[in-house]
Amino acid sequence: MPGHGHHGHHGHGGQLTPEQQRQMIEQDLRLAKNLGKIKHKIVVMSGKGGVGKSTVAANIAETLQSLGFKTGILDADIHGPNIPKMLGIEMLEDEFNQYQFDTFKALVEEGIVGKDLSQDEQKEYIETKKEEYKNSMFPVVSPSGLKVMSMAFLIDAIDRPIIWRGPQKTGAIKQLIADAYWGELDYLIIDNPPGTGDEPLTVLQTIPETDAVIMVTTPNVVSQEDVLKCVKMVELMNIDKIGLIENMAYYICPHCGEKLNIFGKGNGELFAEEMEITYLGDLPIEEKVSDSPNKEATISTLDPSDEVSKRFVEIVKDIQKEFTKD
Ligand SMILES: Nc1ncnc2c1ncn2[C@@H]1O[C@H](COP(=O)(O)OP(=O)(O)OP(=O)(O)O)[C@@H](O)[C@H]1O
Ligand SMILES: [Mg+2]
Repeated sequence: MPGHGHHGHHGHGGQLTPEQQRQMIEQDLRLAKNLGKIKHKIVVMSGKGGVGKSTVAANIAETLQSLGFKTGILDADIHGPNIPKMLGIEMLEDEFNQYQFDTFKALVEEGIVGKDLSQDEQKEYIETKKEEYKNSMFPVVSPSGLKVMSMAFLIDAIDRPIIWRGPQKTGAIKQLIADAYWGELDYLIIDNPPGTGDEPLTVLQTIPETDAVIMVTTPNVVSQEDVLKCVKMVELMNIDKIGLIENMAYYICPHCGEKLNIFGKGNGELFAEEMEITYLGDLPIEEKVSDSPNKEATISTLDPSDEVSKRFVEIVKDIQKEFTKD
């Protein structure tokens, strides 16, 4: 990952060198420390791409934050990280590095870091730590106070694809999870890459004590078969709290208010029952939640009195009731 250290990338095949072993242990320690003050961790997944997983993850996170819970969102998608864009806080590597330094500087000036330093000593301390803190991982705080970490912050051009080799990919995902300083959080929502491949599996394996997994699907059978595979994978990881959200399930006619099931009546509830997972409800197709190009941000533009916002509040309350007892 450009400019952000080289830990976590151990060689493939062969034995680990003592140095590589040491780095892995250190990463595990950082992971335990950085995730240690998070009360609940919820992973959002989907059997296939494009079903609205990121949209749902971002909305759930914003809803929790708006209800007064300290919330973070981790965008674990390393190919198409779009959570920052959805939240209107896009930033590339240079800007992110500057943000890191500014955050560190503020912490020193507020006396949170380097407690007993005089003003002159603070200045000197900031100067000596300058380079080090450009490579730190403070999440970016959105206008609503949501803490956000994404691979999108660690790339230097939005239009240039990152070419990862297999072990680099899992290394980058682990680093993103292990190295972010979340501090105290009530909830961390993780937007997992789609499917059942190496990447979503790495996320599940790396995050300790996941409270629950939420599957996002759309009302068609093909997508349900993919969800089934995903549920099986999650169960293999010994996570038994699994919920299902059926996204884009209906459309509310703007003229008469009628609920139109344009893809046919969703059978998400039945499906969830068959799989013995918790049905968390459905969501409408709603232009307000789509990231249409004429909008700056997806979620922060939602009005709390909108029907979709109310649906998200209901879903969040269900998640708390079923999974986290908050
Ligand atoms: N309920 C909805 N109503 C209208 N548009 C939606 C809704 N949910 C998602 N979308 C739109 O559908 C598209 C895909 O959504 P999103 O990016 O959240 O899916 P994803 O599952 O995260 O995709 P990927 O697999 O690429 O990460 C986006 O343009 C998004 O704005
Ligand atoms: Mg996505």
